[in-house]
Amino acid sequence: MPAAENSKISWGIITAGKIARKFCNGVLRSRTGALAAVAARDIERARAFATEFDIPGFHGSYQALIDDPSVQAVYIGTPHPMHARWAIAAAKAGKHVLCEKPIGMNRAEAEQIVAAAGEAGVFLMEAFMYRCHPQTARLVELVRSRRVGELRALRATFSYKGTHDLNGLKLNRKLGGGGILDVGCYPVSMARLLAGAALGRDFEQPLELSGMARIGAQSGVDEYATALLKFEDDVLAQLACGVQLAMDNTVTVFGTQGRIEVLSPWFGSGIEGGTASMLIKNTAGELEEEIVTATDDWLYAIEADTVTASLERGRAHSPAMSWDDTLGNMEVLDHWRRCVGMHYSSDT
Ligand SMILES: NC(=O)c1ccc[n+]([C@@H]2O[C@H](COP(=O)([O-])OP(=O)(O)OC[C@H]3O[C@@H](n4cnc5c(N)ncnc54)[C@H](OP(=O)(O)O)[C@@H]3O)[C@@H](O)[C@H]2O)c1
Repeated sequence: MPAAENSKISWGIITAGKIARKFCNGVLRSRTGALAAVAARDIERARAFATEFDIPGFHGSYQALIDDPSVQAVYIGTPHPMHARWAIAAAKAGKHVLCEKPIGMNRAEAEQIVAAAGEAGVFLMEAFMYRCHPQTARLVELVRSRRVGELRALRATFSYKGTHDLNGLKLNRKLGGGGILDVGCYPVSMARLLAGAALGRDFEQPLELSGMARIGAQSGVDEYATALLKFEDDVLAQLACGVQLAMDNTVTVFGTQGRIEVLSPWFGSGIEGGTASMLIKNTAGELEEEIVTATDDWLYAIEADTVTASLERGRAHSPAMSWDDTLGNMEVLDHWRRCVGMHYSSDT
């Protein structure tokens, strides 16, 4: 499985959708990735996408891309209900897999994907780009080193006001619509990461969780939601997410000696690179230090290079988002959804 050092990984891209487009722009700016092929349900869409990104191969079915011998690693950018099917198919074909978040609809699906990757001996990662960004590593280090004292609480939000399109991905239950799965997975993963950092672990599972949501009368999905989590040592987390309400999209870490405000926790220095700030304030709210993460690297290029770094070390998963971390995250999302009465057909 190890990739030869300095060799390029040839990516096959499943879907010609929005995030697939961003990922391709990232691969083109990565140090280690090359675009080999793209697949869309409509071959003309795949052809147009391939032309736009100068990709040599294009296919009118996702399976054809998986079977394409020029593809080493498959990127999956379908709606969430189709992640499991294609991630498992790619793994079974011996291809490495980078699958969009959430990796599946629930923990049960995630377990099947992880098992398929394990059996095939391929690399698999859930595509949480913020976990690959250097700012996140710095934040973990700040919490581990007790920069603002003992971690006591944190607040994390990822919520935006999308269009009210009942047939679109975000509000259509059949397509996995709803905020908890779409963006709630980010604050949950951040809370688990930072609670773990405080305890000297890679991540931590909450001991308790309670949640509330607005379930849309027309959409029938969680349009915005909140959750309260309690971790070991009484670390408390307030989380919020949504697809119909714009929130501040920040993370604040509260310690015994102050707080860390992360102004751009999810997109770091920006999709095309730039700077990101974390503000360290004392208990009176006065600024003590501004920690700036500056990089010219594009966000999704960092993600693609993170995959290669693991392949070069012969690892089946990345420390950025390990398989156990993914399974734990899906378990918390299942719990949050149960609290608010948000079910999908794949849950039964
Ligand atoms: N990590 C990130 O930053 C990030 C950001 C946004 C979204 N995402 C994740 O990426 C996934 C896709 O999101 P997106 O924003 O790229 O969505 P999108 O633009 O709507 O694209 C989704 C693609 O899925 C394919 N598809 C297959 N079956 C479909 C069906 N029954 N209905 C609709 N589309 C279908 C379509 O591909 P073809 O027609 O091209 O085959 C479509 O282009 C989601 O799981 C989402 O959570 C991640």
